[in-house]
Formats: sequence, C-alpha cells, structure tokens
Amino acid sequence: MGLGADGQIRIGHGYDLHRLDVLAPEGEGRPFVLGGVLIEHSRGPVGHSDADALLHAVTDALLGAIGERDIGQLFPDTDPRHESQNSEDFVVEAVKRVADRGFGVVNLDATVVCQRPKIGPHRDAMCANIARMLGVGADQVNVKGKTHEGVDAVGEERAIEAHCVVLLGRG
Ligand code: CDP
Ligand code: ZN
Repeated sequence: MGLGADGQIRIGHGYDLHRLDVLAPEGEGRPFVLGGVLIEHSRGPVGHSDADALLHAVTDALLGAIGERDIGQLFPDTDPRHESQNSEDFVVEAVKRVADRGFGVVNLDATVVCQRPKIGPHRDAMCANIARMLGVGADQVNVKGKTHEGVDAVGEERAIEAHCVVLLGRG
C-alpha cells in the first residue's frame, strides 16, 4: 500500500452525542446499545434510529474520510423509515461508499465518553462487532471509554459522547 503523499490514504473524523434518559416507558431512553452491543443499564440514549452514538461517529468518520457529507444528510432523522433503525445499516452504507472509491480501512480508533456504564468490559465485543461491519480484523479497531469526571451533561449522565478517527488506504 502506498502511504506517501500520493492521495492513497485518507483520514476521517466523526463525533456524536446523544441525550441519556431513564428507559422508556418512564423516560425517553432507548435500550443502551453501543457499538451494536446491548448493555444492561438504567438509562439509555434518546434519539432517532437506535441512537447508537458510537456507530454514528464511526459512520461519520468513514463518510468524512471520503469527503461525503454526513450521516444526517444520508439518513435524515425526519424520515420515519429510520425510526428505531439498526445503526449497523448506516455503517454498512458508509463502508460500501468507501469500497466504491477503492479504499479500505487501515485502522479505526474511537473514544466513548460517559460516566456510566463502564465501557471496558464491553470493548472487545464492540471492537469485534465494528470490525465485522468494516470487514477487517478486530486488531484494526480500537474502542475505549472515559468518564467526564462528573461534570457537565456527560458527567451528570444526561448525555453520552463518541469520538472516532479512521484511516483509509488504497492500492
Ligand atoms: O483517569 P482518567 O481521568 O484518565 O480516566 P477516567 O475517565 O477516570 O476513567 C478511568 C478508566 O476507566 C479509563 O481509562 C477506562 O479504562 C475506564 N472507563 C471505562 O471503561 N468506561 C467509562 N465509561 C469510563 C472509564
Ligand atoms: Zn447519533
């Protein structure tokens, strides 16, 4: 693979945030699905689709790397077809667009910021899941968790954030 300044590599960045609430029907929270992994928790993300902030950040990183708009343009949250949609569908569409341009994923690194739950016990399952969606080895995917030190909306468990960078290569 040519890794020089010959246009054969691309970097992409994705970021997402979802509000967290107690689970429905008492609140607006959906089941806590992150990286496609269901985690038992008293609160869950609020949003359209399944509100998987990590997969949304992954999707935007992939789209950003190939210079495409973003997840909200591809899958408008005003479209009722995307209500409760599995976010894996968004990643798969982004991966297809990456492949159509002749690129493949070199590696992907993501950070989830939430006070609770702990990401560590679930990160291997998330990496394996994302790697499967990308069609790469689990060693090319990394996911880690951070708290927000108890401050601001994320620290007060009112929101969850995900950040992602991806490197693509061609040739
Ligand atoms: O110590 P530091 O401020 O760097 O990190 P922290 O936010 O206090 O989190 C300590 C460690 O807990 C992290 O390095 C992660 O390994 C883990 N962690 C996690 O697995 N899931 C979270 N939601 C937050 C932290
Ligand atoms: Zn989202």
